Amino acid sequence: MIPIAPESRYNAMINLREGKISREIFSSREIYEEELEKVFTRAWLFVGHESQIPNPGDFFASRMGAESVILARDKQKKVHVFLNSCRHRGMKVCQYDHGNTQLFTCPYHSWSYTTEGKLFGVPQFKNLYEGCLDKDEWSLIEVPKMETYKGTVWASWDQDAPDLMAYLGDARAHLDLALDCRDGREGGSEVLVGVHKWIIPCNWKFAAENFLGDTYHNVSHRSVDLIGIGPSAEAGVKGRRDNEMDKAQHVWVNFPAGHGVHSAIMPEGWEYTNTYQNNPIVAEYFQHCHEERRRRMGEDRYRLVPFVGTIYPNVSFHGNQPRNLCVWHPHGPESTEAWRFFLVDADAPQEVKDFLRTYYMRYSGPAGMTEQDDMENWNYATAGSRGVIAKRHPYNYQQSMGKVTTDGPVAGNVSLQVSEENPRQFYRRWRDYMQGADWDTLLGRRDSGPASFAE
Ligand code: FES
Ligand SMILES: [Fe+2]
Repeated sequence: MIPIAPESRYNAMINLREGKISREIFSSREIYEEELEKVFTRAWLFVGHESQIPNPGDFFASRMGAESVILARDKQKKVHVFLNSCRHRGMKVCQYDHGNTQLFTCPYHSWSYTTEGKLFGVPQFKNLYEGCLDKDEWSLIEVPKMETYKGTVWASWDQDAPDLMAYLGDARAHLDLALDCRDGREGGSEVLVGVHKWIIPCNWKFAAENFLGDTYHNVSHRSVDLIGIGPSAEAGVKGRRDNEMDKAQHVWVNFPAGHGVHSAIMPEGWEYTNTYQNNPIVAEYFQHCHEERRRRMGEDRYRLVPFVGTIYPNVSFHGNQPRNLCVWHPHGPESTEAWRFFLVDADAPQEVKDFLRTYYMRYSGPAGMTEQDDMENWNYATAGSRGVIAKRHPYNYQQSMGKVTTDGPVAGNVSLQVSEENPRQFYRRWRDYMQGADWDTLLGRRDSGPASFAE
């Protein structure tokens, strides 16, 4: 047997010309380990939200890839992201999910670090380490790249990574729609209460791919649609959401860096659609937001409304009903740790926050009725990627092939019909990361070419 060079191995797995993708990438431990090295140490990853650490000394224990990190605000209010691993023997220096501290003290031998990450205290320093240990050299390991954007905190382990704005590219306009206040003010959102965290027995890519805009799977939510769990459910509106986007032109858009979104463009002159009818205070709030947003953003821009999206590789968002960010942390080849951050306007009335909290929980998270459908699909799709016979047969990614334009109503590669172009672009970039491509290629500034078995 002729050994296959690693580059052509991934070309063979991601066959974009024919729209076929190997099942192997959803179940192989070897590929998973390689992803941790080649994808998760380079791409920009969402770490948390500034509203989670408003005061000096506040921290939130997060993850990047499979590793624990600390999002911390130091005494000068500067935000840091550190690897949550003691420089002595690797013990977690932060054992709590979140809190406030002066020092991160390691439980093992009690080395302690400041909120700036500096090694501060070493027990019996004079007797045991004087002249041997230079504390300045043994700070917590800090990410070389960290940026905040509209309250969200992102980091990359790659010193050479482009800045976050270049990385997000035109996908930013859609992410903004999830991050901005409902009345069109930029930013101004906060994470509502805590973070939902749970483990799903699936490969992380199934979840990330779903949020690229897999509208085709709507049928699997038929039961919740029939029951009607939307914000106006009790007002007699069936569905998972209030149906304000019924008359919209839906767009499925992907971007050179591998991101993909599903958004909608409302008709010209779009008037407020009655939503949140179940609660007059909440309904009035959103009606007010609609008018304000229209005034602030102008007749064109206000018509773009968000649905879902994935920022490559593993940060997804729900832009409207419900509104949240979700990180699909790799947890093993067949295990994903999902973290869902629910967003609300920070200055919204408490009544609105309370109402949204119950709707968010009804919809998303480990007990969310819609999310349960998705989890079951991803769970069995992962199991179906494992079988000896099954793995001989690739998955079909041929939906709406060729039905894409760069001349659409929004920037990016746009499809005006339900499409798998977004996952095709996502896996093209995934392949490029796995082949160790340079940043020009990863940002789509240099064409890495289609992949096919024939290459
Ligand atoms: S492992 Fe942290 S002090 Fe030893
Ligand atoms: Fe779904």
